[in-house]
Amino acid sequence: MPFELEIDEFERLTDLIYRKAGIRFEQKKIYYIAKRLEKRMAAVDSETVMDYIRHLKFSDRDGREMQELINTLTINETYFFRDFNQLQAFAEESLDTVISRKTARGDRRLRIWSSGCSSGEEPYTLGIILQEMIDDIRGWDVEIIATDIDEVILAKARKGIYMNRSVKDVPGEYLEKYFTRSSASYHVKQKIKNMVRFDSLNLNDRAVLRKYRGFDFIFCRNVLIYFDDISRRRVMDHYYMALNQGGYIFLGSAESPARINPAFKIRKTANHMVYYK
Ligand SMILES: C[S@@+](CC[C@H](N)C(=O)[O-])C[C@H]1O[C@@H](n2cnc3c(N)ncnc32)[C@H](O)[C@@H]1O
Repeated sequence: MPFELEIDEFERLTDLIYRKAGIRFEQKKIYYIAKRLEKRMAAVDSETVMDYIRHLKFSDRDGREMQELINTLTINETYFFRDFNQLQAFAEESLDTVISRKTARGDRRLRIWSSGCSSGEEPYTLGIILQEMIDDIRGWDVEIIATDIDEVILAKARKGIYMNRSVKDVPGEYLEKYFTRSSASYHVKQKIKNMVRFDSLNLNDRAVLRKYRGFDFIFCRNVLIYFDDISRRRVMDHYYMALNQGGYIFLGSAESPARINPAFKIRKTANHMVYYK
């Protein structure tokens, strides 16, 4: 019989996750969660969801299973135009500042790093935004470097083919302009794909990390939340060094760059905080 997660089980489980990790899953995620939960239940030999919840509550003393569950549920989660307000701050404020500064200097190179890019929705979103916001984009040498530790997810990212769930927040006009539709899937157009280079990179590999520098923007959203304090600080120190003077960093909405590395400066935009060097 196919595995099913009942609403009350879903609520008990997600309540427990919320209390332990502060991550809230909405009810519309029930199928997504059920699919992944099944694997964790098998890993700890729980036959029913209630058994698994009891395991988390009473047998998981070191919290390892809770961490495994959270990793399984969040690890590659991403979608186009995630955190719209933040992207708006990027598109309408920070990008303009950097473009004007560079134009004045006769520097026509723009480098963006999507660090922890998962299946590619974030870097392609950035490509779309750049196409929309930079009038004379053909006159610019633009490079979006997208990195992730997960080779399997990178292979998916390079294909640039997505289902409904990934594109649900793409404004209709952009969906028409930057995707081709093929039955149930959406294919990112070549023009956007050409803007992005995907590389495999483990952010904890310090030797390789050192090669990544000279960026005007770094996006590392919803990645460092799973790092411990020491590695988080180390990666943020690297980002500071890897940013050009006046460059911007964007972390996930629950993460504050200045709290991790006080060297970052803060500016308030219309409805967001932006952090820069
Ligand atoms: C939740 S996704 C975030 C995707 C995208 N940035 C977003 O916000 O929508 C987190 C990604 O970080 C990657 N990741 C986790 N640990 C990493 C590490 N040590 N080095 C590089 N990437 C890592 C995961 O493989 C995953 O694809």
